[in-house]
Order: sequence, then C-alpha cells, then structure tokens
Amino acid sequence: MSKVTVVGAGNVGATCANVLAFNEVADEVVMLDIKEGISEGKAMDMMQTAQLLVFDTRLVGCTNDYAKTANSDVCVITSGIPRKPGMTREELLGVNAGIVKGVAENLLKYSPNAIIVCISNPMDTMTYLALKALKLPKNRVIGMGGALDSSRFKYFLSQALGCNANEVEGFVIGGHGDTTMIPMARFATYKGMPVTNFLSAEKLDEVVKSTMVGGATLTGLLGTSAWYAPGAAGAFVVESIIHDQKKMIPCSVLLEGEYGEKDLCIGVPVILGKNGIEKIVELDLNADEKAKFKASAESVRGNVNALKDLKLV
Ligand code: LAC
Repeated sequence: MSKVTVVGAGNVGATCANVLAFNEVADEVVMLDIKEGISEGKAMDMMQTAQLLVFDTRLVGCTNDYAKTANSDVCVITSGIPRKPGMTREELLGVNAGIVKGVAENLLKYSPNAIIVCISNPMDTMTYLALKALKLPKNRVIGMGGALDSSRFKYFLSQALGCNANEVEGFVIGGHGDTTMIPMARFATYKGMPVTNFLSAEKLDEVVKSTMVGGATLTGLLGTSAWYAPGAAGAFVVESIIHDQKKMIPCSVLLEGEYGEKDLCIGVPVILGKNGIEKIVELDLNADEKAKFKASAESVRGNVNALKDLKLV
C-alpha cells in the first residue's frame, strides 16, 4: 500500500491532495491541518467526488493527529503563511521556519523513512532547514519549486508561440525567487527545435521575465499566493517518487560541489525515483548562465545564513 501525507490543507495542500487522489498516485492520502475540522471537511468533500471522477484513492483528513500519518512513503509540507501582494517569498522566513521545523519533526516520528517534499516558502531555505534540522540523508528532502517554475515557463513559452504547452520543453534552475530563478531559454524547444527559431530575442526575454515574476503576478491578481499550479507541481514530484518514474525534474536539492556550490539547497535538474533524488544532472552552463547561477546561489545563501543566525540549523 502506498501512502502520502500532505501537511497544510490550505489552497496549495488541498489542491495537491486532490490531484494526488484524482490521478490515483497513492492508495491513501492523508491531509493534516492545525485548524479544527478543515482537513476532515476537505477530505470528505473530495471523497464525494470519487464516484463522479472515478478514482479509488482513500482520502483521510485530521486535525494535528500525526498518528494518522504513520508509515507514509512521502510527506508534503505546505504549512506556513502564504505571501500577500507585494511580499517576497523571503519575507516569510522567520515565521515559516519555526512551523516547518516542527511539522517535519512530527512527521518523522511516525514515518521515519519518508521522503519529504517541501513546498512552504521560502522554498529553497525550508528544504535546507528540513534536511539539516532533521539530519536526513540528502536524497530524502526535495523542494518542488523548479517543477512549478518550469511549468510556468512552458506556459509563457506556449503563449508566445501560440501552441499547446505540451508541445514545449523548457526548465528553470536556481532559487525559487522572483530575482533568483533562471529560466533556461537556451535549452527551450518547440517540438524538438530551439524556440529561438520561432521567437525573437525580445519576445524570449519577455517570456523569461514573465516566468520569473509568475508567482508575484498571481499574488497580485488573487490577493494571496497561487495554488493550482503549486499544488499540481507538488503532486507531479510525488508521483515520480511513488511510481519510481525516474523523471528529470528541476528541484531544490542539497549541492555538495555540483554546479560549484555547497551547503545550500537550490534548483537543478534531478532524477526522481523511489529513493527520492537518485541523481543530480549536471549541465554544461555557459559563462552567462554560470554567473546567474552564482548570483542566485549567493542570494539563497543569505537565507541559509539567516537560519543559522536564528539557530534553527
Ligand atoms: C508561487 C508560490 C507558491 O510561486 O511560491 O506561486
């Protein structure tokens, strides 16, 4: 039996659980929230769609009862406050760090072998925190940011090309921040052909810029952070692990010399399978991409240092 726990039944967590159930990624999906009744209610509401949408996944909701999460294969952490319009993800650090650390500790008590997928922001920093505070092996803690940012990149590429997003390939590396993510325009393709064959440098630059502020644009429109794509990106990462799909997905992972960086979690392409991170894929970056990656890493390192100052790691 496969089991996934999603902590936080807010918009992102509930969407993630819903996608996991609908796609029958696991036999059982447990949602846990600190707010009385919210997980139970959302789980019951989703279970009442099972006959309509035809899925067999069992959804369980609970209020802070970690015993119900026991023996999960994968645990997704979405807890913490979301950003409001005008806020950066980084501004959430102080509040969310304490929450994420506590959640991760509780999860590990009941599922000592689980793989942890971090969605809470600032995502790269929360991934590092979960990894270091719980002294887990590096293959077991994964930040989902790159999966989301890559999906947004493909969306904006498809809009510019006037095609279906599934005909486009592209990925984003670096930090999951408005100024730190690096959409890899050089590697983006439309039906296997470089997108530069179809889009002018100016248009491609617009696509890159829209991708980078993709989350902020939605926060401005919605009044809170986005949830459909963030939740689905979390489920996409979980699926590659639970079904041992070995998909190559850009995720935030601990670097130990790869890409010239160490002691921080940041987005790079990785192979995800039943053991979590099975391989870090090293790309041959050009000078401009290397400079961007270094600047991105420096920025993420600033947050890691803030965690150290707060004595959380
Ligand atoms: C976003 C948040 C979830 O990018 O980080 O929408």
